[in-house]
Amino acid sequence: MSDAPRLVTCGLPYTNGPCHFGHLRTYVPADMYVRYMRLRGEEVVFICGSDNHGTPIVVSAEAEGTTPAELSRRYHDHFDTTFRRMGVVFDHFGMTDGETNHRRTRRIIRALEANGHVYAERVEQSYCSSCRRFLPDRYVKGLCPHCGAEARGDECDQGCGKHLEPGEIREPVCTVCDTPAELREQEHYFFRLSSFEPFLLEHLEHLKGTANARNYALGWVRDGLRDWCITRTLDWGVRYPGREDLVVYVWVDAPIGYISFTEEWAAAAGADWRRYWCGGAEITHFIGGDITYHHCIFWPALLEGAGYGLPNAVVASGMLKVDDHKFSKSRGYVVWTNEDYLDLGLPADCLRYYLVASTSHTRELNFSWRAFADRVNNELVNTFGNFVHRTLHFAHTRFGGIPAVEAGAPVLEAIRDTLAAVDRAMEEYEFKVAVDAVMGLAAQGNNLIQANAPWKLVKTDPEAASRVIADALQIVKALALLIDPVMPETAARIWSMLGQQDGVEEHRLSESTEPLEPGHLALPAPLFARIEETRLQELEAVLEGRVAEAERRARCEPDGEAPLTIDEFARMELVIARVVSAEPIQNSKKLLRLVVDIGAEEREIVSGIAGFYAPSDLVGRDVVVIANLAPATLFGVESRGMILAAGDEASLLVPLRPVEPGTRVR
Ligand code: MF3
Ligand code: ZN
Repeated sequence: MSDAPRLVTCGLPYTNGPCHFGHLRTYVPADMYVRYMRLRGEEVVFICGSDNHGTPIVVSAEAEGTTPAELSRRYHDHFDTTFRRMGVVFDHFGMTDGETNHRRTRRIIRALEANGHVYAERVEQSYCSSCRRFLPDRYVKGLCPHCGAEARGDECDQGCGKHLEPGEIREPVCTVCDTPAELREQEHYFFRLSSFEPFLLEHLEHLKGTANARNYALGWVRDGLRDWCITRTLDWGVRYPGREDLVVYVWVDAPIGYISFTEEWAAAAGADWRRYWCGGAEITHFIGGDITYHHCIFWPALLEGAGYGLPNAVVASGMLKVDDHKFSKSRGYVVWTNEDYLDLGLPADCLRYYLVASTSHTRELNFSWRAFADRVNNELVNTFGNFVHRTLHFAHTRFGGIPAVEAGAPVLEAIRDTLAAVDRAMEEYEFKVAVDAVMGLAAQGNNLIQANAPWKLVKTDPEAASRVIADALQIVKALALLIDPVMPETAARIWSMLGQQDGVEEHRLSESTEPLEPGHLALPAPLFARIEETRLQELEAVLEGRVAEAERRARCEPDGEAPLTIDEFARMELVIARVVSAEPIQNSKKLLRLVVDIGAEEREIVSGIAGFYAPSDLVGRDVVVIANLAPATLFGVESRGMILAAGDEASLLVPLRPVEPGTRVR
């Protein structure tokens, strides 16, 4: 243990979608680590926030018809609440779009420029002539220049995982309109990453954390680094100092959030952020393994170049699979933290335990509801919960509380062994090993009770029985302290059932072997509820339903690749329709309610053209309608069809020569 102040961070979630179990795979162990270090007596600041910039958020906002700022605020609040519900409690949860981060990012850029680490250069970039804009990052897709897999602008996410620089992607296509992109020249700013190779080799030699992060990063540096384009042609982001038309690349201002959020925390807590970021502090980054490149290469080089302190450890978690499938929102292999778990009343602690206990932190975790239920039922209910409950119950009914007997030497020894094993494991970021050691102690407790049968012993030798219970109670106390990092709610309940008035987190692990004050104990309540087979099947059904729904959608929406067949076209009932009446829809600026004559009948259709046409301009007009579209209800009106219009101004398609309403369009 050192005196250096400690700062722990978690990768910042993008604000364009809800929290899922994949996120938790990083945040829960980080929270466990922080709670553990605090119980060990260390002062730790735990910092996180939301990542608001970059094209994924702009693209999602566009798709939702909202602004990136509104979307970010919404998902920021969502993550903040969800993390708290999961017991993941940060000292501060900031926003990268906040004032502090804009300011800190510009300062760092100026420092990099002043230190000669940035240069401007004209480069060719993907440009979409139909959208009339440059296509940064996720606005462009194509083929990876390294492995040939399908990739997006900034990353080969399906193939080799390499970071791609602007202009590198092969056969670029605009993701918005599918037009093949052209290359156009534009001036951008570059960070001289290549000149940091010697620095990084040295830095990575000493970097602590998980070996996967260090080894991947060393490999990348040895392969050679290229300079890094740090600007984008985008409106949303931190303005590049002195350039109205460029913003800073999201992967620059996102990690700088770690500093800005420390500043914000420090300002509120009366602390000095410089203690953490100007050298001498112990900084640990918890991240998902997929962002190792950014944290082990870009980030330390940036900090070094701008004259800040460096991280000491990067702890990279393995990916989460769902039912043996690669995690994928679009294919339905996703489990949502609120909707699929917390909102159903399932306890945060059980999930925290499952995520840590399933496999080593750096390995892939294959989630399944059955594996989850098995762990809850066998380990939490049958072993841990059962031991705590039978001990407290027996102490309550036979002794009225904690007897004035101290635990024996062998039990204290077993607790000390566990403490040592857990500490070793935590130092090595082997969270599963740590939690297994705690469960091992609970199992020893169960064996102690089983072997001594105190309910029998109490009849023949009550003193011996009280010694058994004193031993068991000492283990319960140790378990409360040791399990707190993983299951804080459970620890608090055990602590209070042990008759303690304060919070378990106000104590130290070293107290695990100190005797409990004799005293009264109330009747204990069970710690965990079994997950019954019917419940399990319900949980599984939700996931199966989501996967089936995704498959159905994929079948209905052929992916641009497959050309439309003539039969598919023939299924579309496009007809000429005459507008009979048109009126605005209350409370909607965009929608009009139209009645149209399609020959055989009159139909009500809701159309989003209120911004472009007055209702009176439309009556009597002939337009084109798709008549066999599934009905949809908008603002309480059932719309049975859709009017065809072209472009941003909704120019209506009309027949050039007069035709009767109901005439088929082919
Ligand atoms: N938002 C990024 C992601 O989800 C992570 C950003 S971490 C930070 O992949 F270091 F850049 F902040
Ligand atoms: Zn386009």
